[in-house]
Amino acid sequence: MASDAFQKDILKDKVALISGGTRGINLGIARGLMEQGAKVVVFGRNEERARQAEAELRAIGSGQAMGVSCDVRDYEAVSRVVEKTADAFGALDIVVAGAAGNFFAPVVGLSPNAFRTVIDIDLMGTFNLFRASFDKLTKPGASLIAISAGQAENARAFQAHACAAKAGVNMLTQTLAIEWGPAGVRSNIIAPGAIADTEGVKFLASDPAAFKENIKRIPQRRLGGVDEIADMAIYLSSDAARYVNGQIIYVDGGLSAGDGREDALTVPERRK
Ligand code: COA
Repeated sequence: MASDAFQKDILKDKVALISGGTRGINLGIARGLMEQGAKVVVFGRNEERARQAEAELRAIGSGQAMGVSCDVRDYEAVSRVVEKTADAFGALDIVVAGAAGNFFAPVVGLSPNAFRTVIDIDLMGTFNLFRASFDKLTKPGASLIAISAGQAENARAFQAHACAAKAGVNMLTQTLAIEWGPAGVRSNIIAPGAIADTEGVKFLASDPAAFKENIKRIPQRRLGGVDEIADMAIYLSSDAARYVNGQIIYVDGGLSAGDGREDALTVPERRK
């Protein structure tokens, strides 16, 4: 659920399509957009999860929602979902590229297929969705949002595949901001920090001591909520963001503002 920081229905009758929207952060974004009056289509690989997401979303707002099973790596299949969305609800106002795959592995532990798999889901998936949507976008007025990560700009061990893929997602999306800006299409990037109840955080929490240290490095000293990412997506989808284009927006409690090192963040506490 998104916060009540916004007036209700600021996205009334807007049409949104969200890849990876059947769970996690992207399902949270779907919920937030529904609460603001949008009609939403989510898709993911797993058919059962797509059905569950559809049922959940239909209980919110206008109740106009669909869950579809589709692999974001398959351009033709993605194109069919775009057509289906436009046929059911009309031109697309909001497109969120959220589908992602990740795991921790050193480079020497990655087969070429392992590396390619993450590039295909994250980077090719973002290309597939945005490219397939272009003809059906509301022009002017559409808002494209890519869900990226801090790995795009800060290299991390055991994340070469995700670092490379997300760096590509950022550059692709910023290039679209330039190419499609003249058509009235805005393209922005949300880089979430550590968000509670997500796959990524569940993995990090499997080492409780390291996890505690990681939380200490976040200036706001807590995990983020899915609702806090949804709020940013609502803002970027709304008229309030009409001159925001090509930006990478971190929603991470301030982690990326520093150098990410604990000693840089705890100085005031040490002075006590
Ligand atoms: N370490 C090293 N290689 C790994 C790996 C790991 N932890 N997990 C998967 N791979 C490799 C596989 O061995 C395979 O390579 P190979 O054919 O050379 O053996 C390749 O990656 C593809 O794996 P596969 O399981 O066939 O791919 P998939 O498309 O079914 O799954 C993943 C995609 C691997 C990204 C999977 O982790 C996934 O779908 N995760 C769910 C989404 C997710 O992670 N979300 C979090 C986003 S932050």
